[in-house]
Amino acid sequence: MPYPHQIKSFEEYKAAYKKSVEAPEEFWAEIAENFTWKKKWDTVLNWNFEEPKIEWFKGGKLNITENCLDRHLETKGDQPAIIWEANDPEEHHRILTYKRLHEKVCMFAHVLKNNGVKKGDRVCIYMGMIPELAIAVLACARLGAIHSVIFGGFSAQSIADRLIDAQAEYIITCDGAFRGAKDIPLKSVIDDALIGIRFVKKVIVYTRTHTPVSMIKGRDVWWDDEIKKVETLGLHDFPAEEMDAEDPLFILYTSGSTGKPKGVVHTCGGYMIFTNYTFVNVFQYQPKDVHFCTADIGWITGHSYIVYGPLSAGASSLIFEGIPTYPDASRFWKIIEKFKVNVFYTAPTAIRSLMGHGDAPLENADVSSLKVLGTVGEPINEEAWHWYDQKVGKGKCPVVDTWWQTETGGILISNMAGVTPSRPGWATLPLPGIQPVLLDEKGNEIPETAGELTTGNLCIKFPWPGILRTTYGDHERCRLTYFSAYPGLYFTGDGAFRDKEGFFRITGRVDDVLNVSGHRIGTAEVENAINMHAGVVESAVVGFPHEIKGQGIYAYVIYNGREDTDDRNRKDILATVTRIIGAIAKPDKIQFVKNLPKTRSGKIMRRILRKMAEGDTQNLGDTSTLLDPAVVDEIKDGRL
Ligand code: WT7
Repeated sequence: MPYPHQIKSFEEYKAAYKKSVEAPEEFWAEIAENFTWKKKWDTVLNWNFEEPKIEWFKGGKLNITENCLDRHLETKGDQPAIIWEANDPEEHHRILTYKRLHEKVCMFAHVLKNNGVKKGDRVCIYMGMIPELAIAVLACARLGAIHSVIFGGFSAQSIADRLIDAQAEYIITCDGAFRGAKDIPLKSVIDDALIGIRFVKKVIVYTRTHTPVSMIKGRDVWWDDEIKKVETLGLHDFPAEEMDAEDPLFILYTSGSTGKPKGVVHTCGGYMIFTNYTFVNVFQYQPKDVHFCTADIGWITGHSYIVYGPLSAGASSLIFEGIPTYPDASRFWKIIEKFKVNVFYTAPTAIRSLMGHGDAPLENADVSSLKVLGTVGEPINEEAWHWYDQKVGKGKCPVVDTWWQTETGGILISNMAGVTPSRPGWATLPLPGIQPVLLDEKGNEIPETAGELTTGNLCIKFPWPGILRTTYGDHERCRLTYFSAYPGLYFTGDGAFRDKEGFFRITGRVDDVLNVSGHRIGTAEVENAINMHAGVVESAVVGFPHEIKGQGIYAYVIYNGREDTDDRNRKDILATVTRIIGAIAKPDKIQFVKNLPKTRSGKIMRRILRKMAEGDTQNLGDTSTLLDPAVVDEIKDGRL
């Protein structure tokens, strides 16, 4: 039995679920036995959601990289750990076996150490999707440094904010990254981010694109030079730092309803166990399967289901550098054919976009190796679900709809491939260990017997090993954001339906957070960026349904700047947003308005703006509290 905790039938699922609720500590302790510990834990779980304080396997000593690398060397040393496909299909792919990956991680851990990185230091990683990104992440973990990966699409300003928040003194980056037909000059963005920052001690630069870069004496060093030094000394192994299960493993910044992203903190032990458990069960991974998760390692999906989940399970994990439509829309299918991919995990937005290219790109590729399909990041509409199931999976691959969040570390609600039932558009049942509840608008728990179909705000009432522990540097913010709306519960920020069988359908965010192409963007953050533009007086940002992206960004802007055409002013605002946050936060629509609909107390009535952005100008609901109802008509007339 390769995975002793892999559930094989619906009956086994029900039994595991029951046990996980009745005896959670025993349940998770049994699973934890299947990992390599330097020392066993003192207590399985200490918790209260009031502070909150959550500790799993406290006193247990381990290093996650021993679980992801060392323990596989004997039996899987020559198996691919990482399969890498370049942006350009003509460029040769790379395969790193477990032995090779282990060696590379150890050598780079030496490089980090030689450059001053110590246990507990924060290391910012800003790289493209190359194996060295995974190597950098794992090398930090080997040494006990806390990595904070920043997605390559974020701007210098966003990087600077995160560097300051995390007080990260070390940066690992690349000269540039290839993305479709574009080169992204990563090092140059880092240079911009560092203009006003004095505390960064070292920047390690990997050569990928051969873009000219500036290298500052004493601060910037080349990855390859540093590796050569280690090689000369024959340092191919690096003793894994002993970490407490509750020591932080990484920080990952994510957006919320305030203007400032927060650093979600995950710890070594619980996160490892949870990503491994969910990986093995949801995807029903079998030894030697090739697992292809298309996410970027800059997001939680990449952390959990490209790096830590798969590698801790000794899997072969595919890393793809490019984009789904370059050089054409058959790219994913050709990769599946080339590497005989068995498990394919992507976002609904990618599915919808590829569906839009018709069936021809799929017909030219052999995707018969596929066994399991997965989706993540946003609700999937039924049309896309069926296309995925029928055209990609040929009706023979279970589709898992996996609901989770950066904060949850791993999948919480999902069917398990071929083991528990699936239903289009439904994430279905909670995984063992997860106790979801729905709350009505008064904050009361809706009983499971309440009816055929109930709906409310989704909360979780018991901790699981992968739950966030804090938000970096501001524990109170963690409490306020997740544990104060409904005392005693973790609030997800999502709304959901539940049917009488206990199946969940996630409807999306109920707060001021948008989900654009599966990326989380706070409306307040976008507003702040728009308001930075010299001519902008005020703005309000809402989401609207977008055929491909799921949600698009609609901005209402009061403008009183340099006189020019609306089109030019729009472009300037877009350039400002790109500069402040990054291109991912650019509004799809900018409507210039004279006023925003406000209540007498000066609060913007977003509900009305949302309705109008959705194209519904009839059912605006109660507008009697508006200070000036005429504002609404003006906005209505100017709709884009
Ligand atoms: C938000 C979390 C989890 C990794 C990627 C996004 C939405 C996520 C689903 C799904 C419906 C989903 C939720 C959630 N979401 N998965 N299967 N069905 N909605 O992570 O950036 O932390 O965003 O994504 O709204 O709260 P994230």
